[in-house]
Amino acid sequence: MPIADLVTRDLRVLWHPCTQMRDHETLPPVPIDRGDGAWLVAADGRRYLDAISSWWVNLFGHGRAEIADAIREQLARLEHVMLAGFTHEPAVALAEALVRITPDGLSRVFYTDNGASAVEVALKMSFHYWRNVGEPERTRFVCLEGSYHGETLGALGVTDVALYREVYDPLIARPLLAPSPAPEPGEDPLAAAARAADALERLLAAHAGTIAAVIVEPLVQCAAGMRIHDRAFLARLRAACDRHRVHLIADEIATGFGRTGTLFACEQAAIRPDFMCLSKGLTGGFLPLAAVLTTEDVYAAFYADWATRRAFLHSHSYTGNPLACAAARATIELCERTPLGAEVARIGGWLESAFAPLASHPHVANLRRLGAIVAFDLVADRATGTPFPWQERRGLAVHRAAMASGVLLRPIGQVVYAMPPYVVTGDEIALIAAAARRGVEAATRVSCRPPAGSEPTRPADADPSGLEV
Ligand SMILES: Cc1ncc(COP(=O)(O)O)c(C=O)c1O
Repeated sequence: MPIADLVTRDLRVLWHPCTQMRDHETLPPVPIDRGDGAWLVAADGRRYLDAISSWWVNLFGHGRAEIADAIREQLARLEHVMLAGFTHEPAVALAEALVRITPDGLSRVFYTDNGASAVEVALKMSFHYWRNVGEPERTRFVCLEGSYHGETLGALGVTDVALYREVYDPLIARPLLAPSPAPEPGEDPLAAAARAADALERLLAAHAGTIAAVIVEPLVQCAAGMRIHDRAFLARLRAACDRHRVHLIADEIATGFGRTGTLFACEQAAIRPDFMCLSKGLTGGFLPLAAVLTTEDVYAAFYADWATRRAFLHSHSYTGNPLACAAARATIELCERTPLGAEVARIGGWLESAFAPLASHPHVANLRRLGAIVAFDLVADRATGTPFPWQERRGLAVHRAAMASGVLLRPIGQVVYAMPPYVVTGDEIALIAAAARRGVEAATRVSCRPPAGSEPTRPADADPSGLEV
């Protein structure tokens, strides 16, 4: 199949996610033929180093044999059966494994298909729990400034990224917003954690008895631009939730499975949330699957005679799909077989030294790292930290230049980051850093004008940060 044909056919019928389709007039989608470890191989033979793990899902490389084999083996037995009224080995074994590897006290597993739907399940379960235990006035949710928990209407109700939320605002529930614990430029991380925790305490007190849950992305607000906060915030958050009898929902969809240096970010603060949402890396990047883990206390509040109408009547057709569960079991086996902490520390060290020289670049600010995640801000003026006007799409210029160097980087607005699969080598990380530098240089060398016909519809000073390229 000629490559040009595939792109033409694609543009005739497909509508791509998170994309202004008109961009494809100048930047057509790249036809990928196969994956090979940390690399994506295009139909024309070009290779792209997947420095962002394909939207943070891939853990152990594309085409990883152990996961592919587990899916193949399962496929020969059973592709799918509804999980209401039926069960199967992959769903049970995966749930057992998840209970074993997550913080003690998370003992019940509910499956969904993707991150946003897992978040919705946690929100619905929390809300419904309070009704079931006789506190129906607890109906509100608290999320953090810059929070991102997915893009379905329910998940947008606890998401604070204007780019995704604004248009749909009339349709979306209004959360209570607490300040982000990520430090402002120059602020001490511990001071920022304390500031945010104090504000959260005040918010919980001011709305006492009306809040169902606080939802948090532990340690890193990824979609907000890899905003890292101190673990001290999480410990204070857990204590505040306990004091105010409010659920804590840990959205580990992006941070789970080692990215921050421990299997789950919550471990670094030794906290156990009331709900933990997992997806993305759960299947090693092979198949869509998500899980919500919760406590026996929550489960018990729903366990009653049918006529009490306490049951959690939420379902998706593909809940607990056997192929996805088999992929997840194989992924967890890989996590357990690999000295994951040491691997991530090694990758983190490589990222840190490869990216360090960029810190002095006149258009780079706030170089930061946690675990196997590294990020920096592209700035117009380093001294003041002023970003470029968002309409200029400098992040897109970084993406283009990096792709031309054979590296897939996809900045979040003007935040350039890497979150590679764990099979990446030190030499490959050097390639990623070199591509990032080339990207920064290409993006800041020229005056970037917004493409003709894309007149801004927002005020120039409002930066709708998000996955905009
Ligand atoms: C923290 C977090 N929660 C939820 C989601 C939504 O997951 P999905 O894209 O699978 O709906 C994401 C996706 O990036 C995420 O980073």
